[in-house]
Amino acid sequence: MKDIIKELHDRRDEARLGGGQRRIDSQHAKGKLTARERVELLLDEGSFEEFDMFKTHRCTEFGMEDTKFYGDGVITGWGTINGRMVYVFSQDFTVFGGSLSETHAQKICKIMDMAVQNGAPVIGLNDSGGARIQEGVDSLAGYAEVFQRNIEASGVIPQISVIMGPCAGGAVYSPAMTDFIFMVKDTSYMFVTGPDVVKTVTNEVVTAEELGGASTHTKKSSVADGAFENDIEALVEVRRLVDFLPLNNREKPPVRPFFDEVDRIDEALDTIIPDNPNTPYDMKEVIHTIGDEGDFYEIQADHAKNIITGFIRLEGQTVGVVANQPMVLAGCLDIDSSKKAARFVRFCDCFEIPVLTLVDVPGFLPGTSQEYGGVIKHGAKLLFAYGEATVPKVTVITRKAYGGAYDVMSSKHLRGDFNYAWPSAEIAVMGAKGATEIIHRADLGDPDKIAAHTKNYEDRFANPFVAAERGFIDEVIQPRSTRRRVSRAFAALRNKKLSNPWKKHDNIPL
Ligand code: HXC
Repeated sequence: MKDIIKELHDRRDEARLGGGQRRIDSQHAKGKLTARERVELLLDEGSFEEFDMFKTHRCTEFGMEDTKFYGDGVITGWGTINGRMVYVFSQDFTVFGGSLSETHAQKICKIMDMAVQNGAPVIGLNDSGGARIQEGVDSLAGYAEVFQRNIEASGVIPQISVIMGPCAGGAVYSPAMTDFIFMVKDTSYMFVTGPDVVKTVTNEVVTAEELGGASTHTKKSSVADGAFENDIEALVEVRRLVDFLPLNNREKPPVRPFFDEVDRIDEALDTIIPDNPNTPYDMKEVIHTIGDEGDFYEIQADHAKNIITGFIRLEGQTVGVVANQPMVLAGCLDIDSSKKAARFVRFCDCFEIPVLTLVDVPGFLPGTSQEYGGVIKHGAKLLFAYGEATVPKVTVITRKAYGGAYDVMSSKHLRGDFNYAWPSAEIAVMGAKGATEIIHRADLGDPDKIAAHTKNYEDRFANPFVAAERGFIDEVIQPRSTRRRVSRAFAALRNKKLSNPWKKHDNIPL
């Protein structure tokens, strides 16, 4: 018996060495942690339970039968994050460059199946040279098995991808179908075809970092939702995110202890709106003021900054926030911001996370680049996402709510539950100047008359009261009491039940 136990320990020690000390040192030299070190940091101490530690590939091509490593390049299992269960896979670059073989894929599929069955998130730590070249089509089949599971798990359990090394070719499509992608600056990249192929096909010269590094994907492409300085920061931030999320679509998000008064008054909000309606202010200040302890987990902070998306807590409960940002493009909606916010609202709706919308939007951004880029279809995504969402929806109009953008931003008409406005709200078809120039075109040559018409329009519409008279605004609230009003609104909606008509699925304008 003693010998067998010793053999178990020896085998475990061998498995824990992955591709060997030389390759581990090389991984460290690149500023990267090993697959096992990452799992240890991600999960609560001592909580990791591993599956398939001794699994090896079955490839007999290219002399592979003589080169086997326990685990076959991926560490899989489950553990806890602040006591709540998650499944995890972590690709081991020290074993065949973390490349995906048939058996490597089987290990990932096994934990994905368990995660769906047992209702817990899957977190994938990606660090892989892609398809195991020696395995050919078996590897491609393995990828497709993972893809199919990503699709079926979508909207059932949260799926989070962290890119911590290479992720290239078709391999990118598994993370692409998960809910959130995070990258590590300088050590990770994602692209469908690498710099060499790009050079051959298009004659463009581009580095891997420029083509698919963290900056590219968090700022330009919006493929990634956030980027972190190093492995440790990335894993700590994923733990923070998981704390906001429910384990699956049948559970409510966790309620965390909170140390902030629900009826905390913030007088600074009474003066945050500048006298000049064209002067911006920072909507993030409003968000920080409303949330418990000022905590805000921002998603896609570096892309489409004219809209802000992320999570706060109110009375310890997770709330998704969508907010126009007047500091960027005056808070206009455009293609990128519509897509960003639509995806976020749909995530919240999948997982029963209530949505708070803060509105200061002068309208949709005009221009040929927007129209040629399909702002009609992309803007409709956000409209559609809000309209189909059945989670509690609370809206606060802080200043401008003009035109179609008023309708889009979780208006009463899209089944907004509580629609509040600050006294500074301006709810109208368009700004006073534009409106005057159209309806009083005949007076355009007379500046005095135009000024009088503009003032008249402002007096009539640059306020929340016309909308309030019609019941489109439920209440005009004092800015200082926003946290209390919004918290009470969500509390009143805890048992909200609303469903859409039966359908196989909708046909959101993609
Ligand atoms: C098998 C691989 C591998 C792969 C790397 N290795 N990629 N083994 N299949 N895809 C092995 C190397 O042989 C090496 O083994 C070890 O991993 C580390 O690789 P290095 O090249 O030494 O590391 P580095 O210099 O850091 O370069 C990393 C890399 C490079 C950029 C990822 O290895 C690379 O370009 N690999 C091939 C990438 C690729 O073309 N993959 C297929 C993409 S197509 P030793 O024994 O020396 O440690 C694809 C299709 C998926 O993925 C389709 C899904 C639908």
